[in-house]
Amino acid sequence: MAITVEKKFVDSMFSLAGKTAIVTGATGALGGAVAAGYGFAGAKVVASARSKDKLEAYAYELKAAGIEATSFAADPASEEDVKALVKAAVDTYGEVNILGACHGFNAPKNILEQTTEEWKKIMDADVTSIYLLAKYVAAQMAAQGKGGKMVITSSARSKMGMAGYTGYCTAKGGVDLMVQSLACDLTTQHGINVNSINPTVFRSDLTEWMFDKESAVYQNFLKRLPIGRLGEPSDFVGLAVFLASPASDFLTGGNYDATGGYWAC
Ligand SMILES: NC(=O)c1ccc[n+]([C@@H]2O[C@H](COP(=O)([O-])OP(=O)(O)OC[C@H]3O[C@@H](n4cnc5c(N)ncnc54)[C@H](OP(=O)(O)O)[C@@H]3O)[C@@H](O)[C@H]2O)c1
Repeated sequence: MAITVEKKFVDSMFSLAGKTAIVTGATGALGGAVAAGYGFAGAKVVASARSKDKLEAYAYELKAAGIEATSFAADPASEEDVKALVKAAVDTYGEVNILGACHGFNAPKNILEQTTEEWKKIMDADVTSIYLLAKYVAAQMAAQGKGGKMVITSSARSKMGMAGYTGYCTAKGGVDLMVQSLACDLTTQHGINVNSINPTVFRSDLTEWMFDKESAVYQNFLKRLPIGRLGEPSDFVGLAVFLASPASDFLTGGNYDATGGYWAC
């Protein structure tokens, strides 16, 4: 039987060499790991977040680690900022090949206490921002005519509700469906693969308290996690690089689990 897989392809199937990646939420736990992961896999990285000082400090870290990187402060829920971010990436590196959307926001509150303004803030930060990034990055990728990859950070909470999470669960559920619709709009015609990742709890400044092994929250979580621990930012990188790389060329419109087996038992 003839071998149908080329060694050359397998040798480089996870490489992002020669690609330019925009990573939003780059100052966060997951975005920071993804920016470094993409950079170490060979991509030129345009790191983005809203807080300029923190962002510039992190871009400095990336460069010190040998990664070709620049930073551009932008609010992903602002249409003008997103246009400027894409333009900055093109001005600096010539094109955009990968979008790693890793920003996000939640302000948990029971619906009876939540204001409509607070709901809208979650929708803007978590849904409108993804729409705007997808729209302007896709326009750039389509103009380049070489396809591209979009890797959108959603949440396991896109698949189930939770008290106080009316906004966040709805937003992330919307993101997963947006990813499926984007695949229908962008993959056949423009060769742009769009997928999302659905994490459970990964260590960040906001979730650090959940890592207290003595706490009831930790113990309860562990009952549903065959992997036996919560996630570290580095655990997120493999799937993020895979979905940005040639190894995932056949995948689009998917919502991929990064939970340590949360749905298994
Ligand atoms: N860590 C987890 O356990 C976990 C679990 C499930 C899903 N997620 C999702 O994973 C993504 C990254 O989470 P993370 O844990 O890395 O978060 P993080 O450490 O808190 O970082 C959040 C990032 O998003 C930016 N950001 C914060 N508020 C924002 C807003 N209102 N609009 C736009 N950007 C905002 C922050 O920078 P600036 O404030 O400077 O913009 C920062 O770069 C989010 O989409 C989150 O919902 C995380």
